[in-house]
This record gives sequence, C-alpha cells and structure tokens, in this order.
Amino acid sequence: ETLAPVFAIEPHATPIPLDERNAMLVDPGFGRVFTDHMVTIRYSERDGWHDAKIVARAPFQMDSASAVLHYAQEIFEGMKAYRLPDGGAALFRPYENAARFRRSAERMAMVPLPEELFVESVRALVRQEAGWIPEIDGGALYLRPFMIASEVFLGVKPSAEYLYAVIASSVGAYFKGNAPAVTLWVTQEYTRAAPGGTGAAKCGGNYASSLIAQAEATRNGCDQVLFLDAIERRWIEELGGMNIFFVFDDGSIATPPLTGTILPGITRDSLITLARDMGLELREEPYAIDQCRADAESGRLVEAFACGTAAVVTPIGTMKMRDGDFSIGSGGPGQTTTRLRQALIDLQRGTAPDPHGWLERV
Ligand code: COI
Repeated sequence: ETLAPVFAIEPHATPIPLDERNAMLVDPGFGRVFTDHMVTIRYSERDGWHDAKIVARAPFQMDSASAVLHYAQEIFEGMKAYRLPDGGAALFRPYENAARFRRSAERMAMVPLPEELFVESVRALVRQEAGWIPEIDGGALYLRPFMIASEVFLGVKPSAEYLYAVIASSVGAYFKGNAPAVTLWVTQEYTRAAPGGTGAAKCGGNYASSLIAQAEATRNGCDQVLFLDAIERRWIEELGGMNIFFVFDDGSIATPPLTGTILPGITRDSLITLARDMGLELREEPYAIDQCRADAESGRLVEAFACGTAAVVTPIGTMKMRDGDFSIGSGGPGQTTTRLRQALIDLQRGTAPDPHGWLERV
C-alpha cells in the first residue's frame, strides 16, 4: 500500500480573520494556538486507509466505548515547518518522523500508516496553513500527527479501526522566560521505561506516566524531570520529553545510547551528525548520575543540554536531587551548546548549506 489517497479539501467556513491570526502569532508560546484545519484519515479492515481529508479543526465525535479511551492505544509525532529565506516553507527530515511513527504503531500493535502517506498528509496541511508560521525569532508551525484506536469494543485486543489526524500549532519557544538555562529534577522514585517496555515508542502513555515526576520537578522549582534507568536506577536516560547531551572539558560530547528504553529523537540524531561534521568526538555511551555529579564538581563536565523538536537545544544549568543540588559549568549556555544549537537552527531555517538533504520543501 504505497499510493497516497488524494486529500479532499473541505475548507473552514469561518476561518480566523487575518488580523486576529496575526495578533495570535506575536507571542504564541507553545501548544495553545491552533490553525483552522486538520487532516483526518480513517482505517478499517474492510476499506484500509481511506477518507483522507483536510477539514475544519473541530472536536471529534467519538463513541464512549472507543478503545483508545480505555486502553490508551495511541501514538503521536512532533515536527516543525519552518519559513525559508525565500518565503517558502520546509519540513525537517519528515521521513524520519514517518519511520518512527511506523515503529511506534508496530510496538503498540496498531496498523502502521504508509510512510509516504504520513509525509503527504503533513505536507498537505503545511501547504494549507503556511500563513500560520509565526515570523518571530524561533517561530515555527508545530505539526502533531497522531493516531488513536477507534474501534467500539471493550475487549482487550488490538483495535480493528483507527483514526489518524494531523493538527498544527503556531509556536515560539517551548520554555517560557529568558532564563539562560533550565533546571532538572532527577527523580529517584519514578522511572519512565523498562527493558521490553514502550520507552522507544512515541505513545501517549509514556508521557502520561512521566507527569507525576514532572509535577514533582515543578514542586521542587525545576523545569524538567530527568529519568534514570529502571533496573539499577543510576544510568541517565532522558527528560520527560527531550533527550540529553553532555560536553566535557576535552571538547568531547556524550549522549545515552538507544537501548530500547529511550525515545530515538530526530533532533538527537541530527546533533550527533552535526557534531561529527564539526570534527567533534561524539560518544553514545551510558553515563551514571553519580559520575555526572562528580564530573560537574571536578570541572570535567562543562556543559549539558536538552534537545527535541519542541525544545530545540536548551542548556541545562543545574540538577537537583534528593541528596542535594549541583550546577554544570557556568550554569549558562556553553560554547559547544551554543555552536551546535546555531548550526541546527541555521540548517532548519535554510540559512546554511544542507549537505545531508534534511530540508524538505513543501
Ligand atoms: C517534541 O519535542 O516534539 C515532543 O514531542 C516532546 C513534547 C514534550 C512536546
């Protein structure tokens, strides 16, 4: 099944007027400003993927016995469309999102959406909504493709019907305020994923289970939670919704390896490539929290940063845990973090050469 169904376009009868839209795009924040339209495609065993359309974004009509509401068979993606210098728009590595969406579907025993159809659906929505890309520093159109189990049945088994949709949100920075760096709460009570679990899948359940630890982080005055591995409770894994990198005083960089319990970030993968392109030593290797603390205190660890589609590259200044706090480097954005961040942003916005062909003009 490789042929993409054509998207029927049913335009919004009363789209948000241009002046109102522009007012919303001045300072959109993250995830609260939505565009007029969405994509929907349905799956049934009889018809396969069908009924692909772009329609007014509106509440779903959903049976109260829909499987997703009971057993959380749900996956999603996060990606951005950027404004190019010539006024066009581009997606960044959308086939990587399509492939991860397929792998997430497989892990959650859902019917995978053909990758070409995934990319085509996002492309179609960006074409429709390109006017919603905020022209502010760091502005982008955040795309949220997702899929839910829509069969009306309370038996515990993979759903026979699915609803796939893409919504779009005009966004600025994920983190509010102008803090030079974010603070992490190292949770020693909760874990995010165990071997054999769903840690590498982008399913809503992973984020639901992270919320209690994230709330603990917020209570302790931190921006994000940092999870350790579920077996030894000592190896650094990732944040609630971002991957993590470390920079050492010899100029080398490290990030936890993809062992199946970590979300394989596309920003993570891109930064690994960009660092190596710059001639920097990049290791995917386990890093223990006690070693991290010792290295921060000895000065061997000089920078740390979080990365993701939403977060881009965000410096980490301080880590707090049960047995006390420690800061990393100067507590602000370091040299290597800043350099990698700029290289990524320049590439995504089409102001630097694209040797890997990562930009996909829509
Ligand atoms: C993203 O970075 O796009 C994500 O999906 C993570 C979420 C915390 C916003």
